[in-house]
Order: sequence, then structure tokens, then C-alpha cells
Amino acid sequence: MDLAPLDLAIVVPVFNERENVATLVARLDRALDGLAWEAIFVDDDSPDGTAEAARDLARVDRRVRVIQRIGRRGLSSACIEGMCATAAPVVAVIDGDLQHDETLLPAMVRALADPALDLAIGSRFVAGGSTGEWDRDRVAKSALATRLSRYAMKTELSDPMSGFFAIRSAVLRDLVPRLGGIGFKILLDIMSASPRPLAFVELPYTFRTRAAGESKLDHVVAMEYLIALYDRRFGRVVPVRFAMFSAIGAIGTGVHMGVLSLGYVLLGWPFLASQIVATVAALTFNFFLNNALTYRDRRLRGWRALVDGWVSFALVCSVGAVANVGVAAFLHDVRQGAWAASALLGVLVGAVWNYALSSRFTWGR
Ligand code: GDD
Ligand code: MN
Repeated sequence: MDLAPLDLAIVVPVFNERENVATLVARLDRALDGLAWEAIFVDDDSPDGTAEAARDLARVDRRVRVIQRIGRRGLSSACIEGMCATAAPVVAVIDGDLQHDETLLPAMVRALADPALDLAIGSRFVAGGSTGEWDRDRVAKSALATRLSRYAMKTELSDPMSGFFAIRSAVLRDLVPRLGGIGFKILLDIMSASPRPLAFVELPYTFRTRAAGESKLDHVVAMEYLIALYDRRFGRVVPVRFAMFSAIGAIGTGVHMGVLSLGYVLLGWPFLASQIVATVAALTFNFFLNNALTYRDRRLRGWRALVDGWVSFALVCSVGAVANVGVAAFLHDVRQGAWAASALLGVLVGAVWNYALSSRFTWGR
């Protein structure tokens, strides 16, 4: 039996990486010779059976562990959960698609032998590092994202987008309540969440080309990145979700007016009928957009769930509409001249109501 105390945990977020799991463990085994380590695969119930592939390894190699999250998605939150699930003093995060250079891990552990350091970060942008075979387009996008991050949070990191780093577990655990956990950028989240500047060292590595499987970085991920930046800057004033919910509501009002003018003006329907159709259209628009964006992480799927969700959203919003009209009418009674301000406050109260109740009932769990 191996009684050496655990030196290092390696958290591996995985989604549809079945082909890469065994290779990664074999490479870790080679790279981490002489260290007592465990690898924690955090899978979000991948349809390709990644979790089962990892469990197949775990049954014969006790250094391998698996967390299979069911009904949730998200790279950052997967990393956070994995990092909280170890007793090792140092925890590293590495991609499960073999793009990060695992031979850098021992150097990260050695760097953290210095008690003054909190993190050792793999960087593609310090001397000796590189983004490997990236095309011009990806290089440009990555550079833009890096510049944006500097704007939003004054990091001096050369590679704030890096998803490859090691951190002292205790430091990480203390930060968890402050982490946003949205999107792809866990390192950025950690660095900007800390109330005191974290001490870090950057170690160069070359980003490898993906051999098997495909990248999950898409437009939604890019959007989530912007949301995460927003959250860091303004999240305390107006929470992201409420901002998105309201923005969608504003666009929904446009949909309402569009459908109304189509029915009433162009098709010559009676006003009441046009208004009812417009309301249902706007409600449906808001429901689906909020489901896809605002509540992406708790997204309702399948006919049953969608119909139930739509009905509960309609109920919440009709009460919201009554509240809206009631508040506006009351304020208008109090101050006769202020019709516009009364109406706007009514809308605000309705929006807060719809947001609060739909997050509890329509997208609650
Ligand atoms: N559990 C879980 N849930 N894992 C995920 C999810 C998810 O929703 N999305 C992606 N992953 C896993 C992938 O399976 C892979 O192991 C790792 O996270 C990185 O995802 P990729 O889809 O391969 O992303 P990439 O190669 O474009 O991005 C990488 O490079 C960036 C630097 O440009 C990641 O390392 C980023 O973190 C890094 O910032
Ligand atoms: Mn990748």
C-alpha cells in the first residue's frame, strides 16, 4: 500500500473526451513519477460516455477519481467542484484534451514549495511559451479577449485565459464563495476574486493541437466570457441575470409592438385580438430566450419541461402585469402629472417581480 502523503491533485474538466481519458492518465503517470498524486475527472454527463471511460480506469487505478455531474454544464464550475474535492495541499487544473503540457506539472509543484507563492500558472505568452499551431483568427480572438480582461480587471498576467495552473488548495477554498463560476475562464475568476493580490509565477508551455474530439469553445462561450467580465465589474450593482432578463424583456417589448402593428395595422384585426396575440408572442419570445441565455445553466429541455415552464412563466408574468398596472395606477393617483414616471416605475416593479418569481418557480430546482 502506498502511504506517501498526497502531494498533488489534478482536476480535469471533461466533456465528450472519452478518447483522451486513458492517454492523459498514462501521460500523468509518466510525468509525475515520484509524486503522490490523484486525478479528478469532472464530467458533465457527456453523451459519449466519458465518465464511464474514466470509471473504467478508476476501478483499477486508485489515483483516478470521477465526479459525474448530472443536469449541469460549465467548465469553470466543474473546475471549482473538482478543486474542492481533494485533500491534497496543491491542486492543478489541466484540460482533458491533451492540449496542455502535463510535463510542466512537477515544475509547478516545485514552484509552490516557496510558501510565498499562491499559484503557478502555465503561460503561452512568456519567453519559451507558444500557442502552437493556432491560425491567425484564433490568435487575434485570444489577443482581443486578453486585452478586454485587462480593461475589466487590471490583471498583470501574461496569459489570463490560461486554463492550466496549480494553486494552493486552502487559498482556493477560501475564494470559492467569491467566485462567479460562469463560463470558461476559471483562472481569471480566481485572480480577480481575491481581495488580496495573489502571488504567482508564470511558467512557459506550448499549447498543443487537439488530436481527438472537438473544442467546446463557441459563440455562447464567448458570450459567457463577456458576461463574466460584466459580473466582475458591475455584478454587485445589477446582477448579471437580472441585467439579461431585463434586456430580453426590452427586446420582447419590441416583439410585442411589432406583432401588434402587424395584426392591428396591417391585417386589420380588432385591437383586443391583436393585443392578445402580441402578448402571447412576446411572452413566448421572452420565455425561450431566457431559457437559452439567462438560465442556460438550468435550461429546461424536452417537451414536457418546456410546456410546464412556459405555463409557469405565463402565470408569473400575468401577476407581474397586474403588479405593474397596480403600482403605476397608485403612483399616478398620488402624483397626477407624473404619468411617465409612474408607468416606468410600474414596469420596473413588474420586471423585478417577474425576475424574482420566475427564477424561483420557472427555472428553480
Ligand atoms: N466538465 C466540463 N463541462 N468540461 C468542459 C466543459 C463543460 O461544460 N466545456 C469544456 N470542457 C472541457 C473539455 O472537455 C476540455 O477538457 C477542456 O474543458 C477545455 O475545453 P476545450 O473545448 O478543449 O476548450 P479550448 O481548447 O478551446 O480552450 C482551452 O484553451 C483556452 C486557452 O485559449 C481551455 O483550456 C480554456 O480554459 C483556455 O482558456
Ligand atoms: Mn481544447
